[in-house]
Amino acid sequence: MTYEFSPELLANLKNATRVGVLTGAGVSAESGVPTFRDAQEGLWAKYRPEDLATPEAFVSNPKLVWDWYAWRRKLVTDVEPNPGHYALVELEQRYPEFTLITQNVDGMHQRAGSQNVVELHGNIRRVVRFKDRVEVTEWEDDGENPPRCPTTGDYLRPDVVWFGEMLPPEALKTAFAVAENCDVFFSIGTSALVQPAASLPITAKENGATVIEINPDSTMISQYLKYVLRGPSGEVLPQLLDAMQA
Ligand code: OAD
Repeated sequence: MTYEFSPELLANLKNATRVGVLTGAGVSAESGVPTFRDAQEGLWAKYRPEDLATPEAFVSNPKLVWDWYAWRRKLVTDVEPNPGHYALVELEQRYPEFTLITQNVDGMHQRAGSQNVVELHGNIRRVVRFKDRVEVTEWEDDGENPPRCPTTGDYLRPDVVWFGEMLPPEALKTAFAVAENCDVFFSIGTSALVQPAASLPITAKENGATVIEINPDSTMISQYLKYVLRGPSGEVLPQLLDAMQA
């Protein structure tokens, strides 16, 4: 499909120097990673992510939660970044100030080549101790899941933010500073349901930024935005880059 972009939007993009982007699971959908709210398949179909991604779930069934994340880790390792991820790498190169804030834990933006990435919900590839969240890089694989820290014997867990947990304070601070001080802000592939990330585009708007949503479906914030580009990010973003060059 071919998308049309308003001359006013293109002018705002050309004149901008400070750009912020918020991404969610939708950006990785075209790589084959199911979004958070898509129905799960196979083995995991009977669980809801909301029931697995909590500290309570880990305490009551650590093996189940570890195994689910191990499955997701393999899933995201086995797929490749898509044209949407690569378009964001190119966009970063065009602006003197560019920050990519992501709710995704799949590390796909960095794999594609994005440099200035703020991870709001952690990264599935990192592993920390459950008790004190100290990162652990090596442990013995004796078949016990979850594995234990070789130093303290505590259970290990993925370094992701679960429901009911605090977001990393530095990442959050940076994200809001970007939203408050940018010329253009994109909200891409996120349902904008989970706070506080969901309030970033609105914060940007309130501070005078041009805010653009890219999503095939309507979201909680669509009605507040002037520029809503309805389509998959892997198609819309490359076309937007081309239109900016024209
Ligand atoms: P969701 O699964 O809630 O939303 C995915 C969004 O991507 C939806 O709005 C889809 O319409 C959109 N989408 C689907 N395919 C797309 C495509 N090809 N291009 C662009 N958009 C597409 O995922 P998030 O908004 O990321 O939090 O969810 C936010 C957070 O809620 C997650 O990080 C996770 C979850 O609960 C935690 O785990 C703390």
